[in-house]
Amino acid sequence: MKKCRICKSPIEPFISFGQMPIANGFLTREQFADEYFFELQAAFCANCTMVQLIDQPEPQKMFHENYAFFSSTSKRMAVHFEEFANHVKKDYLTSSNPFVVELGCNDGIMLQHFANSGIKHLGIEPSVNVARVANEKGVQTISEFFNESTAKDILGKYGQTDAFLAANVMCHIADFNSVIAGIKMLVNPDGIVMFEDPYLGDVIEKTSYDQLYDEHVFLFSLSSIKYAFEQYDMELVDIEPQGTHGGSMRYIIAHKGARLVSKNVYTQLEKEKEMKLNKVETYNVFRKNCEKSRDSLKQLLVDINKRGKRVVGYAATSKSTTILNYCGIGPDLIEFISDTTPIKQGKFSPGMHIPVRAYEEFMAKYPDYAVLLAWNHGEEIMDKEKQFKAAGGKWIIFVPEVKVV
Ligand code: SAH
Ligand code: TMP
Ligand code: ZN
Repeated sequence: MKKCRICKSPIEPFISFGQMPIANGFLTREQFADEYFFELQAAFCANCTMVQLIDQPEPQKMFHENYAFFSSTSKRMAVHFEEFANHVKKDYLTSSNPFVVELGCNDGIMLQHFANSGIKHLGIEPSVNVARVANEKGVQTISEFFNESTAKDILGKYGQTDAFLAANVMCHIADFNSVIAGIKMLVNPDGIVMFEDPYLGDVIEKTSYDQLYDEHVFLFSLSSIKYAFEQYDMELVDIEPQGTHGGSMRYIIAHKGARLVSKNVYTQLEKEKEMKLNKVETYNVFRKNCEKSRDSLKQLLVDINKRGKRVVGYAATSKSTTILNYCGIGPDLIEFISDTTPIKQGKFSPGMHIPVRAYEEFMAKYPDYAVLLAWNHGEEIMDKEKQFKAAGGKWIIFVPEVKVV
């Protein structure tokens, strides 16, 4: 029997997506034979309400000097992180010489806005290639995996922080308790912790099961975050829901008693009860919804293929690794996936080995259908690709339901 990563209660999986490769592990033909697979299974802990993967590959298999995800590929996300930085500067940096720490700062998409204002800062980013880009932008970044022990070193070298920030990384770290222990010592008594991740409520509501992949070892909710931080005498004091990545939640946390708890927290906790996020039945219904979604997407592609139409995937996202492998969609159904990230181009998608090609190939000869694998960047993409529609192209979407638009 497996144990909850947070509270150590026994847990059992409510879904298995089968064998999965590393979601960002785009590979060459020569690497096919040695590709790494693990079973992607998710569980719900009835005690602390945390939704989590049963197994996660070692962090070094996912985050390294060839990490394929560069945050700045999305213009909308660049704007989002500039706004996040401005909000922190305006509302939370009140001391005369503040110090800001960001976990998983990637290519410096957010921290650059502190660096450019001359604010003392530190990025902690284990993937060396993206950290290098951050450093080149003038963002001071060290390549470490954050946990309690690295927090101790950082504390010794740099002192306590006023604002500990993170986006789309807290849910990546299996030993979350160690992260919280590190945060506890690193954040000064009046300091603030702000982090955002895809929100469990949205995943359940939209059947966006592709939010589960190797990197996403947790799907957070207010109730699970509250529990996790309370173990370390820290308190969830506010939330700020976000539209990014298909629905995210920003959590604001302080040392216990340091700040008032906003009524937003109580209201949203009530909503989570109404949504039954604390009940195991919810996850059994979710599994059935995933199976339905899988079957209809596969059937749709098989039918289109029989009609002899061209289908291309739009954006080789990490999330799409779960979709393509769980649904069994390979190069027989999708000709290639177009993506703007140079490191992914010329390689093959993890597991299903669909070729990944430059965006220009999509532009050069529009397919009949494009599967919107980056549905979380849907608005930005629809705006950009008006011509594809005008030329008679159709989008295949699968969140919140499978349809052609
Ligand atoms: N914050 C960025 C990047 C998210 S991707 C954004 O929202 O776009 C997650 C990042 O976290 C990766 O760059 C990865 O290398 C980093 N990461 C993974 N484990 C980490 C850890 N233990 N400590 C710090 N960063 C980590
Ligand atoms: P993500 O969903 O994991 O954030 O990854 C986004 C991927 O989508 C990344 O590889 C870049 C790619 N992409 C495009 O190819 N075109 C686009 O217009 C956008 C927004 C993203
Ligand atoms: Zn638990």
